[in-house]
Amino acid sequence: PSDTGRVLSIQSHTVQGYVGNKSAVFPLQLLGFDVDPINSVQFSNHTGYPTFRGQVLDGKQLWDLIEGLEENQLLHYTHLLTGYIGSVSFLDTVLQVVDKLRSVNPDLVYVCDPVLGDEGKLYVPQELISVYQQKVVPVASMLTPNQFEVELLTGLRITSEQDGLTACNTLHSAGPRKVVITSALIGGKLLLIGSHKKTQEQPPEQFKIEIPKIPAYFAGTGDLTTALLLGWSNKYPDSLETAAELAVSSLQALLKRTVEDYKRAGFDPSTSSLEIRLIQSQDDIRSPVVTCKAVKF
Ligand code: ATP
Ligand code: PLP
Ligand code: MG
Ligand code: NA
Ligand code: MG
Repeated sequence: PSDTGRVLSIQSHTVQGYVGNKSAVFPLQLLGFDVDPINSVQFSNHTGYPTFRGQVLDGKQLWDLIEGLEENQLLHYTHLLTGYIGSVSFLDTVLQVVDKLRSVNPDLVYVCDPVLGDEGKLYVPQELISVYQQKVVPVASMLTPNQFEVELLTGLRITSEQDGLTACNTLHSAGPRKVVITSALIGGKLLLIGSHKKTQEQPPEQFKIEIPKIPAYFAGTGDLTTALLLGWSNKYPDSLETAAELAVSSLQALLKRTVEDYKRAGFDPSTSSLEIRLIQSQDDIRSPVVTCKAVKF
C-alpha cells in the first residue's frame, strides 16, 4: 500500500450524468490515483431516465483492450475496480482480467461492487448471482454490496445488525478480507456496516456508521461510495473504519449540496432521481470533514 496507485476501472460510462466510471474516475483522480477507465457500456444517460441509447462492450472487446495493454507492457495495476456488469460472458472475462493482472502484480487489490440489484429488485440476469458467489467473491479483496446484494450472495436475510455482521463473516470465509455493506435499512435506520478480517486467526474488526437519511433518490452514489472506499482504504490500509468515515462524510456533504442545488433551481428533490453534484463537491472529496463517526461492535 502506498499514497497513490494505478486503478483499472471497468464500469459504465454515461455521456451526461454521473454513474459508473463517471462517478468513480474523477474522485479517484482527486485522491491522487492514475485511473484507467474501460467503459463497459457507453449510454447517453443512466437507465433511470425514460429512455437511454448507446453501446454495450462484450467480453471479447474487453479482452482485446487487455491484450493491447499487454502487448505494450502496460498491465501493471495496483487496483482493479468493477461495478455493474450485465452478462455472464462479460463477468467471465473480468475474471480472466483479474488473473492476468495478478500474474503481473500478485499484490493487485481487487475492489468489487457486486451490483445485482437494490431494494428487492434484481437489475441483472439471475445467472450472474452464482457466478459472483462461486468465482468473483473468492478473488475479491474488498466487496461492497448493499443489503439486497448481501442477501443474494449469502442466502441470509438481513433484518438486524447482527444479521449484517454474520453475513460479513460468511463473505470473509469465502474470500474478501474487507467487506462493506454500503447501505442497509435496519430498524428504520440507514447504516453502513464494515468488517475487516485482518488475520486468519482473529475475528474481524466490525463497525457501523449511521447515515442521516435524505428524502431523495440519487443515481451514482453506490459507485461513488465504492470508489471512495478504494481511495481511502489505500491511504488507511489498517483502518477500514477511518476509510469508511471519510467516504461517508464526503458523500453526505455532496448529497446535501446536490439537494440544495435542485431546490434552488426550483425542483422538488423528492420527486425523481437526482444527478449528483460531483464536480462542485471536489473540496469535500479531497479533504472531507468527518461528520459521520463509526461505532465499533
Ligand atoms: P450498490 O451500488 O451496490 O447498489 P448501494 O445500494 O449501497 O450500493 P446507495 O443506495 O446509492 O448504493 O448508497 C450508497 C451510499 O450513498 C450510502 O452509504 C449513503 O452514504 C449514500 N446515500 C444514498 N442515498 C442516500 C440518501 N437518500 N440519504 C443519505 N445517504 C444516501
Ligand atoms: N450504471 C448505469 C449504466 C446506470 O444506469 C446506473 C443507474 O441508473 C448505475 C450504474 C447506478 O449506480 P448507483 O448504484 O451507484 O446508483
Ligand atoms: Mg441502494
Ligand atoms: Na454497494
Ligand atoms: Mg447501486
